[in-house]
Amino acid sequence: MTDHKGFVLWFTGLSGSGKSTLSRMIEGELRKRGCKIEVLDGDEVRENLSKGLGFSKEDRDTNIRRIGYVAKLLARNGAIAITAAISPYAEVRNQCRAMNRNFVEVYAECSIEELTRRDVKGLYAKALSGEIKNFTGISDPYEAPENPEVTINSETQSEEESLVAIMSYLESSGYIPAVAANA
Ligand code: ADX
Repeated sequence: MTDHKGFVLWFTGLSGSGKSTLSRMIEGELRKRGCKIEVLDGDEVRENLSKGLGFSKEDRDTNIRRIGYVAKLLARNGAIAITAAISPYAEVRNQCRAMNRNFVEVYAECSIEELTRRDVKGLYAKALSGEIKNFTGISDPYEAPENPEVTINSETQSEEESLVAIMSYLESSGYIPAVAANA
């Protein structure tokens, strides 16, 4: 078992910006290194912990507070909690930061133009036509973080490059031990 401290790796970014993909990649990498880790993914949390919540500001804030609370419980017991929800509002994100001694915010950046072009889930087309209301980035706010520990960008970086950027930050900040290149 790799010796690591508990911490929260908090992804924030628009739908389709790569939060889930990158969090699963980080999970795989850290598991290989023997870390204790859980991923709290937005879509998944909304199926259980936050079932029944919608997308009003109040419901989103409730959703994020729940995720922040569970992440705190995990991290204070020495586990790594990765969260991957849009978490559009800075204030509640910062409340989650304040609840955790070890908190790493990762901003998954991507332009609306690119997300609309990709539209993996077909939701941007529906948001643009008005079929889905209050869609983050189209008809609902997204407050980008001002001082994220790491910023990744799926338009300008490959998934592998983003993975390396996050792992390098975690290693250089002492969250996880660095592994030798030939390990
Ligand atoms: S959050 O705002 O509360 O953090 P969360 O990450 O849990 O959002 O859920 C976002 C996911 O819900 C999106 O990836 C998308 O698949 C779906 N979704 C459905 N309606 C909306 C909407 N109005 N705004 C944003 N995402 C939506």
